[in-house]
Parts: sequence; C-alpha cells; structure tokens
Amino acid sequence: MIRSQSTSDSVTSEKNIKNRLQVQRLLEPGLIISSSFGSDAVKGLTQIPKTLPPRYFYDDRGSELFEQICALPEYYLTRTETEILQKCAGEIVRITGACEIVELGSGSSTKTRILLNAYQQQGLPLHYLPVDVSAGMLEKSAIQLLVDYPSLQIHALAGTYELALSQLQPSQLSNRMICFLGSSLGNLNPQECDVFLSEIVAALQVGEYFLLGIDLQKPKPILEAAYNDAQGITAAFNLNVLEHLNRRFGGNFDLQQFTHWAFYNESEHQIEMHLKSRRSQTVELAAVQLQIDFAPGETIRTEISRKFHLDVMQQQLKAKGLVPQKIWTDQKRWFGLLLCQLQGT
Ligand code: AVJ
Repeated sequence: MIRSQSTSDSVTSEKNIKNRLQVQRLLEPGLIISSSFGSDAVKGLTQIPKTLPPRYFYDDRGSELFEQICALPEYYLTRTETEILQKCAGEIVRITGACEIVELGSGSSTKTRILLNAYQQQGLPLHYLPVDVSAGMLEKSAIQLLVDYPSLQIHALAGTYELALSQLQPSQLSNRMICFLGSSLGNLNPQECDVFLSEIVAALQVGEYFLLGIDLQKPKPILEAAYNDAQGITAAFNLNVLEHLNRRFGGNFDLQQFTHWAFYNESEHQIEMHLKSRRSQTVELAAVQLQIDFAPGETIRTEISRKFHLDVMQQQLKAKGLVPQKIWTDQKRWFGLLLCQLQGT
C-alpha cells in the first residue's frame, strides 16, 4: 500500500483529504446499534427455526475475521473475483466511460482499487460512494483511498443498502455504476433478492450500470470446504455472533455450548451456516428481556449463502430491465461478474 511519504506537507495533505471526503450517516449512530438492530434479533430468535440476520457478523472483531476469511486457501470467492476484475476492469471502463461508482457493502474497498486504477489510467474523474453499516470501517478505508488516489472524491454513506439506495442524489458525472461484489447477494432469499433488485432499478437512471459479482454452483466438497476451513476462522466468525449479542444485549450465551455447522443444501443451492446447541439450555438477553430455550442439537441459522446459475441470474436481471452487457467468469467458472445496464421500458 502506498502512503504519503513527506511529513512536511502533512498539514496541507490532511486539509486536501478533508476537502475530498464527505461522510453522511443515514441513521443516527445510536439507532443502528439499538432499536432497529435489536428488534431484528428478537424476531429471528423467537422464530421457528431460529435465525439471525447476517449483519450481526460484522462488529469490529467480525469484520476483522471476515478479512481473514477472504485470504483463506479454501475461500476461493475473493481470490477468484479479484482475478476476474483484474482481467476485465479495462473493458468495464471502456463500456461505462466516466461514471460515479457506488459500492454497496464496501468494507475494506480492496477490490474497488482495481476499478479505480482502471478509471484513473484512462484519465477519467474518480467519484466514489461507498456504503457500509460500519461507519468506522467506512471512514478508515476512505481516508486510505484518498491518500493513495490524489484526484479521488469520496462521498461515504453509513447505513443500510436500502437507505442508501433510496437517498442517492443523481450522479454528478455523466453516468453511474452501482457495484455489489463478493456475492453478498447470496445472503438474500429469492424474495428479498427480488425486492433488492427493484431498489437497484429505482436508484438508477436509464443507461446507468449495475456491476454484480456472484458465486456460482459447483461441487459440494469445494463449497463445504470454503465454509469449514481447516484453521477454524469461519467457525470463530460464526461463534462471534454470540459474543456480539452478549455485548450488545446483555446476553449470557456460553460459546462453549454451541458449535459451528455449515453445509451445502443442494436442493436450495445454498450454504447454510448454523450455530448448534450442544445441550438443552436457556439463554437470556437481559437488555431486550428475552429468554431463549434450546433443545439439544437445536440450531440458529446465522446465514444463507446462495450459489447461482449464470443463465438463470441473467434472465432474472433482464426481467428487471437490468440487461447484462458483458459477463465474465474465471476459467473454472466458479464465480461470475455481470455488467448490466438499465434499459428504458
Ligand atoms: C460476504 C456474504 C459473501 O456468504 O461467502 C464468509 C460471508 N460467511 N464465510 C459468504 C461469509 C462465511 C460471505 N458474504
């Protein structure tokens, strides 16, 4: 990573960075953490079967563990998508021309750098709007990007995808591209996915772009290994959800009494991650006045990660008016990247 080298103009560069950064909180910070967040968890945990929304993975510790997952030998997703992006970034730039880049779930923005490099190489203006629920991660990544890209302007949006998509101002450049990478779409069930795609359409003008990265169907052993790594990082990532709940809601989950369980549900084409209770037990979340009973072997489903079929996805996007202009995959066809353009009706 390139950092600014001289300390003598650190004052000017700091000012310069602040001039190029705008951070907008889409929810009051307290609200993300308390009320709306808590009701999600209560709802999921009182359901049969028990579930939790995947966003509970991403506290500071969880975000760190996720970064480690991305580098695991078994977790081919990040590596494969990065390889595809490196191969096709130039072509994306040729197709879209100058455009504002909106990224949903930007995290560390590591993959985004490949796109920024390609736009920069063509001498095009760099306008980046990262969206993330973690305001800390958002600001930290934004500042590093501004140091590394002197012409970059960032308008960071702290909040959920839905809020960001509904509050986007029209692009200041001649075009816009909304990026949704890493197969995060896989966390949404088919119904939620349909709603989400409608929200994308509503946030785009005719002629604007949607860049989508999706994990593809492949043999079960490869998939199951990616979610059951030998080092146990994914297990720690899954169990960390309970620590997060304990801290946030005054809970008394005993992490020793739950185990990580991930498997490929072949009929649904999805990885499911669960936390399985080792025994009969009652857990309390004092802050939300909730008692949760577990039977031995009962689980909380913490995530679905759907695996897609390229042709089916292509049709689904087309039906929404998001017409794939170009589709890229790796040699093994493990991962797909689709550049779609919103068509007029
Ligand atoms: C960030 C949702 C794409 O489903 O593969 C990684 C999260 N879960 N290992 C995925 C995750 C377990 C990841 N997504």
